[in-house]
Amino acid sequence: GQSFISINSMTNDQLLALFELAKKLELMNRDRFDLFPGAVETLLFFQPSTRTRMSFQTAMLRLGGNVIVENSPKTTSSIAKEESLNDMIRCVAQYSNVLVLRHPNDVEAREAAKYVGDTPLINGGWGHWEHPTQALLDLYTLYRKFGHIDGLKVTVASTDMIEARTGHSMAQGLARLGAEVTIASPKARRVPSEVIENIRSSYPNAKIEEVFDFNRKSFNEFISDKDEVYLPGCSAVAGENAEQFKKSMDDYFVDHATLDAAREKGHMIYVTHTLPRRAGEMDLAIDDTPNQLAFEAILHSVSIRMALLASILG
Ligand code: CP
Repeated sequence: GQSFISINSMTNDQLLALFELAKKLELMNRDRFDLFPGAVETLLFFQPSTRTRMSFQTAMLRLGGNVIVENSPKTTSSIAKEESLNDMIRCVAQYSNVLVLRHPNDVEAREAAKYVGDTPLINGGWGHWEHPTQALLDLYTLYRKFGHIDGLKVTVASTDMIEARTGHSMAQGLARLGAEVTIASPKARRVPSEVIENIRSSYPNAKIEEVFDFNRKSFNEFISDKDEVYLPGCSAVAGENAEQFKKSMDDYFVDHATLDAAREKGHMIYVTHTLPRRAGEMDLAIDDTPNQLAFEAILHSVSIRMALLASILG
């Protein structure tokens, strides 16, 4: 099986094939299907999680497999006795048909990935680097909504694009699949250059640009012709950037009125907040409008993770 550690671990054809497989699997979203009896999926989560952890559990159970979950490895595994991550991965990989790792440090996680042997490894969110399965489910949700990704005008917006691992994966996935992508942030917290360089070097025709230093009015004007505004919640705690994070929050605030005005003119601006931490990126009343895709994405997250597991496990 093929590991999935970056959104760039798959070709565009593989991504689109995965969306089509997920569509078929939607039919069994609440059923169980004994596709992989006896298969073991192991989740090693060094950071808290609701959605990624539980939808990966759900997806494997619906495929008829089994799940081992290590939720607090720092206290309940031998990591507490100073076992290295590399040694742990090297052992646990031998119990498992597929591993899902969430880790606060992407450098350590990428190093540990060398120790899985033949066992496929899925990135469930690594440091500030990437969270590719979140991007998969959000790409799939747009694919289900529009029937395509190419040509969509999408803004990925955050007051902190350095730490927004979900935003890094999503911006790359969107651009590769032909969307017109703008990444909006304060210049001081701009997206790491590798995110754009990766895509431009592999897909010279990709449309991906950075836009900087908005205020609330200019930001809302900017998003008014977009098909989608993607708000990557920061899974990591903002830490030393917390103050700056809060201050610029108002400059990148999605107003309800912006979406209403567009809708009255016949244009839908969809919004996806990736959760979990709602730090004031948008008017929460948007949750109760058809503009918000975050909760529609939850059901899709199971189908696309089932598709990913099924394709990895063969
Ligand atoms: N969106 C997301 O990754 O949520 P969790 O941190 O709850 O998994």
